Amino acid sequence: MITAILPAGGSGERTGFSENKILRPLNGLPVLSYSLSAFAEEADELLIPCRKEDEEAIKKLLLPYPHARTVEGGATRAESVFHALQEAKGDIVLVHDAARPFVTKNIIQNCIESVKKYGSGVCSLPATDTTVLARDGCIAAVPPRNIVFTVQTPQGFLTDALRSAFYQAQAAGTLPSFTDESGIYAQYVAPPRLFPGEKGNRKLTFAEDFLPAERVGFGVDTHAFGKEQDYITLAGVKIPSKSGLLAHSDGDVLVHAVMDALLSAAGLRDIGYYFPDTDARFSGADSMELLKEVMRLIGEQHLAPKNVSVSVLAERPRLSPYIEAMKANLSAALSLSPSEVGIAAGTNEKLGYVGEGRGITVCATALLKRTD
Ligand code: CTP
Ligand code: MG
Repeated sequence: MITAILPAGGSGERTGFSENKILRPLNGLPVLSYSLSAFAEEADELLIPCRKEDEEAIKKLLLPYPHARTVEGGATRAESVFHALQEAKGDIVLVHDAARPFVTKNIIQNCIESVKKYGSGVCSLPATDTTVLARDGCIAAVPPRNIVFTVQTPQGFLTDALRSAFYQAQAAGTLPSFTDESGIYAQYVAPPRLFPGEKGNRKLTFAEDFLPAERVGFGVDTHAFGKEQDYITLAGVKIPSKSGLLAHSDGDVLVHAVMDALLSAAGLRDIGYYFPDTDARFSGADSMELLKEVMRLIGEQHLAPKNVSVSVLAERPRLSPYIEAMKANLSAALSLSPSEVGIAAGTNEKLGYVGEGRGITVCATALLKRTD
């Protein structure tokens, strides 16, 4: 039986975020969810040491995994792992930082393999830079690079052996000084076996490790004319027209394209997912109101628009008299200044459904910036 321990009991202080980094959304999912789902299939028991204040939020993430539960965290990572180790039922234990979401199935399986073969398996990479030992700001020793490795997680062991190492460290008062299990095991049991890690299996430590500062997204939408109505609505502006656009909502094809661009840049799903046209709540909906909800969704991801660029393809009606009003409306809804929103309009030279005046297509690009 295999127990996986995912220490999540830190506070993520170095990120500067107001919340614990392991609960921070990363492409729409909290960081912890990634390692949870990676280990859920390989382990029979999942133990997550965490702080009291994060427990409720973490328990929600554990709902899909009946074999997962939280454990009281400790003042240091080693103490958090120690608490979990005391409850671990598996004969093999894998410890993996909750803050390393990019771990792969391959790494986990290699870790288990190594424990079965050698009694331990520590995920590591050969050093690519020269590493030195320093004292008082000077180089004290230069180990040959081919014997230097950087150590990641997961780290796997026979549970009894690791537990015994932890008890010995606890008795010696050295436990808080260790930054990972391999150090404790090496000190009190035996030299742990290394297996190759992956560069991508990095730990999220600083804000810039999470998301690039800016992300771009693209959205496109089309609506057909045919509604008995003497206007169309674009960016919330009513524009006189021989007929209206057919739609479940108010048919604001421009806002729909913008919403998809925003959601796409945030790595979220599309408007059809959040506002299904099978849902009566969105019948005749004011798309500017839906845009507010999209702003809330991307805000949850700690993202905000930086600029938005829109291109409308319409043979009719003539849009140029309304562009400034559309820009004013759209920029206000996006918390941008009008100069950060571009709206271009053109015909399709009489070609295709746009050219024949049967519908309008809008393309939009959105650039999002991280808000903290
Ligand atoms: N960890 C833990 N208990 C602690 C401290 C850390 O379980 N008392 C966990 C973290 O939640 C993280 C992993 O150990 O998943 C690696 O630690 P680190 O990257 O240092 O995370 P934090 O301690 O949360 O971050 P910081 O040091 O910036 O505060
Ligand atoms: Mg820490």
